[in-house]
Amino acid sequence: MPESHLLLTTAQTRIPAALERFLVAQNPAAERLSAAMRYAVMNGGKRVRPALVYGTALALGATLEQADPAACAVELIHCYSLVHDDLPCMDDDDLRRGQPTCHKAFDEATALLAGDTLQTLAFLALSQGPLTPAQVTAQMRILSTASVDMAVGQALDIEAEGKRLDLPALERVHRNKTGALIRASVQMGAIAAGAEPGALAALDIYADRLGLAFQVHDDVLDVIGDPRKIGKRAGADIAREKSTYPALLGLPAAQALAIRLHDEAVAALAPLGAAAAPLQALADFLVARDH
Ligand code: IPE
Ligand code: IPE
Ligand code: MG
Ligand code: MG
Ligand code: MG
Repeated sequence: MPESHLLLTTAQTRIPAALERFLVAQNPAAERLSAAMRYAVMNGGKRVRPALVYGTALALGATLEQADPAACAVELIHCYSLVHDDLPCMDDDDLRRGQPTCHKAFDEATALLAGDTLQTLAFLALSQGPLTPAQVTAQMRILSTASVDMAVGQALDIEAEGKRLDLPALERVHRNKTGALIRASVQMGAIAAGAEPGALAALDIYADRLGLAFQVHDDVLDVIGDPRKIGKRAGADIAREKSTYPALLGLPAAQALAIRLHDEAVAALAPLGAAAAPLQALADFLVARDH
């Protein structure tokens, strides 16, 4: 099995189990809300961001247990962002991870509240675990800042509908809406391991290039992806006149850019040596994936 799959398999196994305890009704009065939260989280995501937390933490000598809180927290924020991203007032999508979107399976108000609640639970998840208070505080700062950046990116994305952004403006959207949580995943994994500042600088370049490459490839999949594999409607960006890399550069140039960014990400891992091999393999998978 390729090593990329090792990190993803680890995340796909650990995350549902670890999240289970946050999804038992926090308040028994809210059965429908709890069901919607569970629906939004326990539905077969790739768990890429937790895989990055685990990969970084392991590369720097931490244990999986030390990485669990950040892995859970970033996935909770990501799932909240997807529930809100799909709402009629945002991208208005019907399909997510191969199933009806949360607001279709429940209703808009419940989906909105499920997203809000998942966001809050992310910080509860960070607060519980084996790390020191200083590490937890550092992770909370990283995750809250990245969540703000994600929302900023989403706002810029919606504002850009029907417009033709230039390349720097489009890069800003993508670095915020998607790159921020990917960078935060790597940074929180490094904090879990008590990382040296030098290691952080190299890993931050890896995460920055990979975060952008990931969204460029997501844009590419909207054009060439098979809906049965991507689990969401293809052509949705074109239908909503979204600003995307294929729209701006054309498909071949967007695909070439994803590869170039991947190569830069992988080159940045060199100082970490063999310990970073799973992170490299994860990057390889992320720009070649069909889902
Ligand atoms: C989709 O993210 C939304 C983006 C930020 C591009 P993923 O492709 O990681 O979605 P899941 O979690 O696997 O469903
Ligand atoms: C989503 O970008 C980014 C966030 C959810 C923060 P997209 O709108 O391109 O994601 P998909 O394609 O719906 O998964
Ligand atoms: Mg969107
Ligand atoms: Mg969307
Ligand atoms: Mg997309």
